[in-house]
Amino acid sequence: MEFKVRDLSLAPQGRLQIEWAEAHMPVVVELRRRYRESKPLAGLRVSLCLHVTKETAVLARTLKEWGGEVYLVPSNPLSTQDDVAAALAEEGIHVYAWRGMNPEEYEWALSIAASVEPSLVVDDGGDLHVYMHEKAPDKARNVIGGTEETTTGVIREKALEREGRLMYPIIAVNNALTKYLFDNRYGTGQSTIDGILRATNILLAGKIAVVAGYGWVGRGIASRLRGMGARVIVTEVDPIRALEAVMDGFYVMPMAEAAKVGDIFVTATGDRDVIRREHIELMKDGAILANAGHFNVEVSVSDLEEMSVSKRRVRPNLEEYKLPDGRRIYLLAEGRLVNLVAAEGHPSEVMDMSFANQALSLLYLLENKDKLEKRVYDVPREQDEEVARLKLQTMGIEIDRLTPEQEKYLRSWKI
Ligand code: ADE
Repeated sequence: MEFKVRDLSLAPQGRLQIEWAEAHMPVVVELRRRYRESKPLAGLRVSLCLHVTKETAVLARTLKEWGGEVYLVPSNPLSTQDDVAAALAEEGIHVYAWRGMNPEEYEWALSIAASVEPSLVVDDGGDLHVYMHEKAPDKARNVIGGTEETTTGVIREKALEREGRLMYPIIAVNNALTKYLFDNRYGTGQSTIDGILRATNILLAGKIAVVAGYGWVGRGIASRLRGMGARVIVTEVDPIRALEAVMDGFYVMPMAEAAKVGDIFVTATGDRDVIRREHIELMKDGAILANAGHFNVEVSVSDLEEMSVSKRRVRPNLEEYKLPDGRRIYLLAEGRLVNLVAAEGHPSEVMDMSFANQALSLLYLLENKDKLEKRVYDVPREQDEEVARLKLQTMGIEIDRLTPEQEKYLRSWKI
């Protein structure tokens, strides 16, 4: 089977979406042009486990144009854009994805991405890397290296490394400055609000919004919510981040306090059970719960299910749970990442930098394959700077250069 998608007749619409994304991803398009002739991926199978979006399509097309045989499976069962998947299938990308896969279908897709014995493995969240290590170690023979798109995935792969189980080097694309400062902060900041608004159409101005976690994602969400006129509370476990949130002008308090006053809650911690029974018990009638973290573990949906006497779908991606005392609690996108399930994920402009880093990291793995150990590596600084330089160039923004005297001054201990 060359591909499996929901409906191939959606391909023309998907192509339009990809074209739109491409027009806003000039850095990836420039990199595509640079290596179009030399075909650095010729003869290599590349397995991608990414949200199947129009932006991912721009990356997949690029890797194909570089000569790769590209396999694409989803990194979340609900984030696939079916029209995009159809368009890619028609273009010769091996896509195995549709929106609403059940757990067996999701695992089946992972098994295909592993079964082709890829040379390069690109992941978002770690499901494919973990699958290769746990369920298909025999298929990891040809793997030269892998990359990881997100914080949660890097945490999982570093755990494999710590246990001495990592079978190939992995570049933590997430940890590139040109990734997390922009994608995690401004990308998630905007797209999370986009998801919340598409699902609810509530007015944010005047609402009390509670953001759990003040990492780069939490920072972005808190700042954008404030920009829309919400009164924002941050909850944290890390004293330094909590202090930063305070001095950034947010209210900081424990979730047990925030739960009593919040109108809308957004989790962005990467950890489980951040909102659980003891918090839901304190919430106001009408409280809205959304998750922006990679996995659907941050809001305890099982607690919500157990506590409720009834449940009904009010709008797409919006479920109402009724508690025994009549209070209604609203859960968005089944507790999965709201920006990709209820909206379209990050805007193309920011994925431009993330996926430029993905593409360049694959080239780095190939160029350095004899030197790299079975470890998780950060993106080289030069690559980060190159992506920033290209992005600025495509935005038409010039910056200053140090004069020779300034360079000398900075290298010297003399004043
Ligand atoms: N992760 C967050 N937003 C995304 C997007 N638009 N495409 C792929 N992965 C994403």
